[in-house]
Amino acid sequence: MAKKNSPRSSNATQKGAAKEGYFLSDVQELRRRARQHIEEGAITDSYKADKDLVCKVLNEALATEIVCVLRYKRHFFMATGIHANAVAAEFQEHAADEQEHADQIAERITQIGGEPNFNPEGLASRSHSQYVAGESLMDMIKEDLVAERIAIESYAEIIRFLGDRDITSRRLMEQILEKEEEHANDMKDLMATIDPTKKGD
Ligand SMILES: [Fe+2]
Ligand SMILES: [Fe+2]
Repeated sequence: MAKKNSPRSSNATQKGAAKEGYFLSDVQELRRRARQHIEEGAITDSYKADKDLVCKVLNEALATEIVCVLRYKRHFFMATGIHANAVAAEFQEHAADEQEHADQIAERITQIGGEPNFNPEGLASRSHSQYVAGESLMDMIKEDLVAERIAIESYAEIIRFLGDRDITSRRLMEQILEKEEEHANDMKDLMATIDPTKKGD
């Protein structure tokens, strides 16, 4: 049986719905605004954030991810001892995840008209998390856990800052935050594997 007039089935109904508050803006007005400033690509009039400030914040997140790639890579190549293989595999996997996050953030920066900062100069100070080499396998895991916890805190802050002013950047950072929480949990599990007395810490 054919559906009877759903609220989105015709232009007339759409206009009616807009008046009743189902739509945030009139469809004609949305179309008109989308044609203005087309050189700004994905950024339309609905973009409510300060682009320069968002780029600055996202560049700090980018630096954080790059530092995390470098630290996990170092730990991957330096892992030794009886647990080395399993732990190194985890380090390698995390390095790949952090690289993916860096690429996603860099892409988003270009979408909002900014430039991703890959300059090695100042990288460590732009990054929220630190590069710590770590001596033993346990040291490395602990440092990675600390770095993940820093990323979790700072990304949660970035998400709150973005709010509904830049929804796409916020959603990206939410996805990344979810992954960093998984990473932190992986490091906690590894600590317990290597030293069972750490279980439940
Ligand atoms: Fe990451
Ligand atoms: Fe991570």
